[in-house]
Amino acid sequence: MGKRNKMSQELQTRAMEVIPLGVHSNFRYWGEGVTPYVDKAKGGYLWDVDGNKYIDYRLAFGPIILGHAYDEVDNFVHKEIDKGSLFAMTSELEIEVAEKIVQLCPAVDMVRFACSGTEATMHAIRVARAYTGREIVIKFEGMYHGFQDYTLFSTYAPAEAYGNINNPIPIPASSGIPKALQNLIVTLPFNNFEILDKTFKTIGYQVAAVITEPCMGNCGAVEPVEGFLEFIQSKCQEYGAVFILDEVKTGFRIARGGAQEYYHLKPDLATFAKSIGNGYPLAAFGGKKEVMSIIGHGVAQGGTYNNNKCGVAAAYATLNCIQTQPIIETIQKRGMRLMEGIKDIFTKADIPVHMNGYPAMFSFAVGPVKPTNSRDWNKSEKEYYLNIIGKCIENGVMPDLDAREPWFLCYSHSDSDIDETLNVMSDVIKKVKR
Ligand SMILES: Cc1ncc(COP(=O)(O)O)c(C=O)c1O
Repeated sequence: MGKRNKMSQELQTRAMEVIPLGVHSNFRYWGEGVTPYVDKAKGGYLWDVDGNKYIDYRLAFGPIILGHAYDEVDNFVHKEIDKGSLFAMTSELEIEVAEKIVQLCPAVDMVRFACSGTEATMHAIRVARAYTGREIVIKFEGMYHGFQDYTLFSTYAPAEAYGNINNPIPIPASSGIPKALQNLIVTLPFNNFEILDKTFKTIGYQVAAVITEPCMGNCGAVEPVEGFLEFIQSKCQEYGAVFILDEVKTGFRIARGGAQEYYHLKPDLATFAKSIGNGYPLAAFGGKKEVMSIIGHGVAQGGTYNNNKCGVAAAYATLNCIQTQPIIETIQKRGMRLMEGIKDIFTKADIPVHMNGYPAMFSFAVGPVKPTNSRDWNKSEKEYYLNIIGKCIENGVMPDLDAREPWFLCYSHSDSDIDETLNVMSDVIKKVKR
């Protein structure tokens, strides 16, 4: 990197004095001397503090669905916050945003707001436990549901640590998670019908909820195999457990109504954040009236900033764009061209590649096997992926360096951005040794 990131390096040295790792989320630390610091972003582009410009496919880990600093959203937010930003009282705009979510998402009858995806999943799990009177939660290895302690197990550990596939071990992703919580979580390999079935047969009537991302949005965008999400749904129905679909990444992105529309699902609860507000802080969880309406009847849920006006106004404007303009269709068209283009480049170079995910949110795994869970995915050529992406970034195309994080597209990415990205990728594949 050298001169190219002189200012970033200086900021990192300064930041490390007052902020652990010099960043406010562990995921933003790429290493000493190589972590970029940002100046600004507009549309589909981002500029670091050294003035390097990138086509941005990180998009803040997914929230930017329209584009950075998107006028239609920002102008509406400015207008609304002129009237005050927080009231501990409910405004009509909040009701309108809730109505939009209900209109867009086929499985949502009622909704409550929060500020982050972490809070949304935490609240949903409490509601599920209260609704069922049970405590155990099933989650899938390699999935991430935010930084709350309940589900931060078998998320980033090397797959070898997960134990035997028939008897997986929940591995806490951090020190500081109470040991007692390990007794309340069951971690299973994604896409494995037999093991999920066996688990329900053994402990089904103790299960409060199964929480799942629709695809492995934090593990290379590995997709569900046909029928697996429906299988989770039917097992939950059979045993009276709550099916929580974590749509923090997929919501308002892979389809207008997210994965529940895309896969025709009826989860009992779903969680949203990210694309709901084009980068402003709003999150939500919602679902069936029967489940949601226990809130306030012996079930606590709240938060000072849950209806922060910036987030609410941004969600209103963003969802309005998604409802009334061909946002999702355009992203799909361009994303599809990018996915096909990347596949073609690898195929021509005789390198085995598997494209995973959706045009709005995808990744690729290099290697002979198409991954269906985090154990398979772990066997893909991650070092090679890292080297490819490192070179792409040096050449102005910026997906996340971490192979687990998908590429995200937004409405502001143009056809010429896709062409430029494919040119860079084609060059990089010729130069980077496998
Ligand atoms: C599927 C999923 N759930 C929950 C979260 C947590 O969201 P937040 O970072 O807003 O707390 C994330 C974040 O990436 C996520 O991908």
